[in-house]
Amino acid sequence: MVPSIQKGFADVPRIDLTGGPTPLYRATGLENALRREGIEAGIYLKRDDLIPIGGGGNKLRKLQYHMASVIAAGHDTVITFGGLQSNHARLTAAVCARLGLECHLILTQEVDINTADYNHNGNVLLNRIFGAQCHVLARGASAQDNAVVLCDQLTLRGKSVAVIPVGGSTPLGALGYADCAVEISQQADAGGLNLKGITVANGSSGTQAGLIAGWCAMARDPRIINGFAVMNSAAGAVKKTTELATSTLELAGFNHGLAHAVQVDDSQLGAAYGQPTRAMLEAVALLARTEGLLLDPVYSGKAFAGLLSQLRQGAYQQGEDVVFVMTGGAPGLYAYQATLADAWDGLISR
Ligand SMILES: Cc1ncc(COP(=O)(O)O)c(C=O)c1O
Repeated sequence: MVPSIQKGFADVPRIDLTGGPTPLYRATGLENALRREGIEAGIYLKRDDLIPIGGGGNKLRKLQYHMASVIAAGHDTVITFGGLQSNHARLTAAVCARLGLECHLILTQEVDINTADYNHNGNVLLNRIFGAQCHVLARGASAQDNAVVLCDQLTLRGKSVAVIPVGGSTPLGALGYADCAVEISQQADAGGLNLKGITVANGSSGTQAGLIAGWCAMARDPRIINGFAVMNSAAGAVKKTTELATSTLELAGFNHGLAHAVQVDDSQLGAAYGQPTRAMLEAVALLARTEGLLLDPVYSGKAFAGLLSQLRQGAYQQGEDVVFVMTGGAPGLYAYQATLADAWDGLISR
């Protein structure tokens, strides 16, 4: 079964935030630069960073399903969670603004960076511009406990509150990336690609899980989907992604489970979630300087560093193609101004 892109992967209500398939773009500037290193593979970028609301990014595909459910249930207020510089929080704020919903963001301090930019710029600034009410918790405070208290307060004020889990990474949200898998498959076939790999960042795991679910539902081998963990160990990310992909398939009516092991690599994680690595800096600079395109420092920058490492180790040959999913997150760059400003200048342009 290959569902139509317009209809969506499953027969589950969704609102349209993407306006149709995002482009699959051939990165010829990057390919030219890598050819000087002897790398001949075709490299394509799935431009989910271009989804046209809130600055774009992967969380919007998940929010299409979450928000359809919020509206169907008649809620007027949304609570969601994230780290201080969460892209999911920012995009939830943007979508709530469009839909006329009150938005509360419970933001936790996950990353040991305490600069003015990290605390106030990037996604934090955009949350405020989108009109969300931000509840920044003290380090170590429980987001769940605070959500219960906030939900009670809002309910007493007559609000009807929906809670969307961290990263929107539930089976419902992951359906958004099953849709994306169908898009990639159809675009790759239409473009005559010899598709050997799809690379994506793995944080709360919903994006990779959804891609795997969609790929399995099309009876294609999901082992071409490679996740680079930026939050958990590989073992932790594999467990979470496997469970989520299985439940996503079930939600869409496929009960045959996963026949193959999920592929996640944690070699790019570095010291911790949100902590920059040298390879991430180089990856962000390389795509910026060969394509004029922005990755983010927390998710897609580390995943792209992983893809570069694989390309340099000869994972893809001449005549083979790989797709990198551009998941957005560029506002996060501004949060790292004080931390990284000089590092970019020190890198050699290729
Ligand atoms: C820019 C960006 N890329 C990738 C991811 C990873 O997606 P997931 O949490 O579904 O694994 C996130 C998650 O927050 C993100 O913000």
